[in-house]
Amino acid sequence: MTRCTSFRGLRACVLAVFVVTLAGPGLADNLRIPAPKLTPDVERRIDALLERMTLADKLGQLSQQWGGETQDMNPDARQRALDDILGIVRAGLCGSFLGAHGAEYTNVLQRVAVEESKHKIPMLLGNDVIHGYRTIFPVPLGEAASWDPDLVQAGAAVAAEEARAAGTHWTFAPMIDVSRDPRWGRIVETAGEDPYLGQVMAVAHVKGFQGGDISAPDRVMACAKHYVAYGGAEGGRDYNTVDISMQTLYEVHLPPFEAAVQAGVGSLMSAFNEINGVPASGNPLTLDKILRNDWKFRGMVVSDWTSVTEMIAHGYVVDPAHAARVAITAGVDMDMCSFSYRDTLAESIKAGLVDEAVIDLATRRVLRMKFALGLFDNPYSDPDREARVTLSAKNRGVARRLAARSMVLLRNEDNTLPISTDVRRIAVVGPLADNARDPLGTWEGRGRAEDTVTALAGLKARAGSDIEITYAKGCETRGGTADGIPAAADLARAADLAIVIVGESEDMTGEGHSRSEIGLPPLQQQLVKAVHATGTPMVVVLMSGRPLTVNWEAENAAALLEAWHAGSECGNALADVLFGDVNPSGKLPVTFPRRVGQIPFHYNHKNTGRPPTEERYTSRYIDLPSSPLFPFGYGLSYTTYAYSDLQVATPRIKADGTLEVSATVRNTGQVAGEEIVQLYIRDLVGSTTRPVRELKGFQRISLAPGEEKKVRFALPADRLAFYNPQMQRVVEPGRFKVWIATSSAEGLEGEFEVVR
Ligand code: BGC
Repeated sequence: MTRCTSFRGLRACVLAVFVVTLAGPGLADNLRIPAPKLTPDVERRIDALLERMTLADKLGQLSQQWGGETQDMNPDARQRALDDILGIVRAGLCGSFLGAHGAEYTNVLQRVAVEESKHKIPMLLGNDVIHGYRTIFPVPLGEAASWDPDLVQAGAAVAAEEARAAGTHWTFAPMIDVSRDPRWGRIVETAGEDPYLGQVMAVAHVKGFQGGDISAPDRVMACAKHYVAYGGAEGGRDYNTVDISMQTLYEVHLPPFEAAVQAGVGSLMSAFNEINGVPASGNPLTLDKILRNDWKFRGMVVSDWTSVTEMIAHGYVVDPAHAARVAITAGVDMDMCSFSYRDTLAESIKAGLVDEAVIDLATRRVLRMKFALGLFDNPYSDPDREARVTLSAKNRGVARRLAARSMVLLRNEDNTLPISTDVRRIAVVGPLADNARDPLGTWEGRGRAEDTVTALAGLKARAGSDIEITYAKGCETRGGTADGIPAAADLARAADLAIVIVGESEDMTGEGHSRSEIGLPPLQQQLVKAVHATGTPMVVVLMSGRPLTVNWEAENAAALLEAWHAGSECGNALADVLFGDVNPSGKLPVTFPRRVGQIPFHYNHKNTGRPPTEERYTSRYIDLPSSPLFPFGYGLSYTTYAYSDLQVATPRIKADGTLEVSATVRNTGQVAGEEIVQLYIRDLVGSTTRPVRELKGFQRISLAPGEEKKVRFALPADRLAFYNPQMQRVVEPGRFKVWIATSSAEGLEGEFEVVR
C-alpha cells in the first residue's frame, strides 16, 4: 500500500515515541497473574537472555504468525510447509504461533525451538478457544444467559484442560466486549449488553482458563479482548468506527476489562476499531494510560490479526513502519500477523525513531509470560494426556449442564412445556433439528460435528420407546425452496405436539457476519406458520447467536425457547429442558428488539427530556411500541415466583457506606425451580445524566414449591459511582431508586438517598 508521508502522520509518530510508560522492568509489584513460577530469579534469567539477544531476536519474540498444520496438501507439499515453519522457529523469526494444534504436532515445533534455535526459547502457542476446545459449550452469549458464573468458570476450565493437553498455552478469550447492537455478528461472542454482567462473566472465564497457576498442565493463559469498545461499532457493522463519549467508554466498555485485569488476566488483545479517532491498536490513552498506568496491568498485549498495519487504512499512519512504531510505543507488545514489527522496527530504531528500551520492555513481557506458563521447564505436551482428557464424559457433563442452564424460556402458554406425559407423538421439524454443525456456533475450536448430540438425537434418546418422534427438515436454514414445508406440516398435523427448531446457521453470526435484518429467514418463517396452521400445539425453539426479531412467533407459538448455539451437548440439554428434567432458569443477557429500527436498544438507556409515552412529541417511533419484544434479564420458568416485602434497611447512606436491601421471593408454582433475583438502581439526578436502570447485582436461589426465601443484597456505595463531566469518578449525594426484580422491566421498587 503506498502512502504519502503527511505532516500529520509524522507528527503522530513523533508524539507517540514520548508517551510510553516504561514501567519498571523488575517483577512488578502488582502482578496479579496466577503464576507461582514467576520468581525474582526469572527476571534475572530474562536479563541474561536480553543481554544475549540481538535486536532481530527480540523482534522475533514480538512476532506472531500462523503456524498451523496444513491438512489438505499432499504429503510433499505438507512436508515443505512444515519445513518452512520449522525454519522460522529455528531462526527465531517468530516467538508465537496461532493455529498449531495437537500434542504431537506442537511438540515437533517446540523441540526445534528449545533444541535448535539460538536462544532455546520455547514457542508460545495461542488459539481461539472461545467456548470450548473439543467439547463445545454454548456460545458466550448463551453462557451469559445462564447467569451462572460458577458453571461458566467450570466450562472455561474444561476448555483449558483440553486445549493445554493439545499443546495450546494461550487462548484468545474471553471476548468481553459489551454490545448493544444485535446486528453485530460478534454479539454472539459477548456476554451481552450489560457492563456488570460482562464483568462477572469476564472474571468467571479468566478464573476458569487460568486457575491458580497457569503453568499447570490443565490451564492456559487468558486474553481479554478486544481492547476496547469494539462492540460500539456504528450500525453494528463489524470493524466499523466507534465514536462514543468518554463516559460510555469508561462506564460501559472498560469495566469488563478492568475486572479481567483485577482477576489476573495474563494478556489483552488490542482491537481493530478506532475509538473517537484513534485506532485501538495504537491508542496511548487506552493501552498506556488506562491499562498500564491506572490499572497497573503487568501482562502482555497482543494486537488483533493485522490490526497494527490496518492503522494505515484507518488513515492514522502512513506505512507499516509508522504503524509498528505507533503500536509498540502505545503498548502493543506482540504483533499478530502483520509482520510490521519484524520487518520495520530495526530500521526505526536505527533512525532514532523508537528507543530500544521499548523493544526490551515488550520482549521482557513476552518472555515473562513464557516463564509464567512454565514453558522453559516444560515445553512439551503429553499425547496420552490429550487422549485421556479430550471429550471425556466429565467434560461432556459440564457442557450439558451449562447448555441447559443457558436456555431461556420466553413464552409458555397453558403450560405447554414441559412436555406433558399425555403426549404420544411429537413432530420435530426444522433445519436446525437434525443439524450437527450449526449448534457448535462460531469459533467452534476443534469441535466436530460428529461429536454433537443433535436436537433430534437428544429428544429421541429422552423420549424412549413411549413416545413416537417423527422428523422433517422442512426447509434450509437459508435459501433453498419451500418444497419440504407441506410434508413437515403433515407430520405436525398428525402429532400431539410440534417442536419447530429454527434460527441461524453458525455462519449467520460471528466475525464479519453482521446482519441488517435479524428475523428468521423467510422460508423458516413460512415453515413456522405452516406448522402453526395445523392447529397442533407448537413449541418454537430458537437456535441463534443473537436476539432475533421474532414477533410473530412470540405471539403465536404456544411456547418459545431461546436455545442459542448450545454446543456439543445441545440435544441432550434441550431434551433436559423440554421434558422438564431441568427447569429453565436462564435470563436474557441482551434486549430482544421488536424491529431492527429500534437498535441500539438496551435496558440501561437514558430517560431523555421526553421519555416515550403515547403522546406525539415524545421520544418514540410512530409505528412501534416503545418497549422491547423481550427485555434484558427476562426469562420464564416452569414454576412462578412472587416477589414481596422490599425492605431498604439503609434508606440513607454515605458515599463510603453500604446499601442494604432485601425482598422475599416465593415459589408459587408446582415444581422446584431456580430464580435469578436481580438488583437494579437508578440515580435520579447526576452531574451527568444516569441510565433509567443499572444492574448492580444478582443471586441465584433455588426454591421448592411453596418455599420462600429472603434475598439480601449489600451494595457498597462505591458501586454507585459514575464519571462526571470532568471525568472524575464520583458518587454524588442525592436520591436513588432501587429494585429487586425478576427482569429489567419489572420489580419491587424502593428508594434510598446518598447523603454527605
Ligand atoms: C479476531 C480475533 C481472533 C484472531 C485470531 C481475529 O480476526 O478478531 O478475535 O482472536 O482473529 O484468530
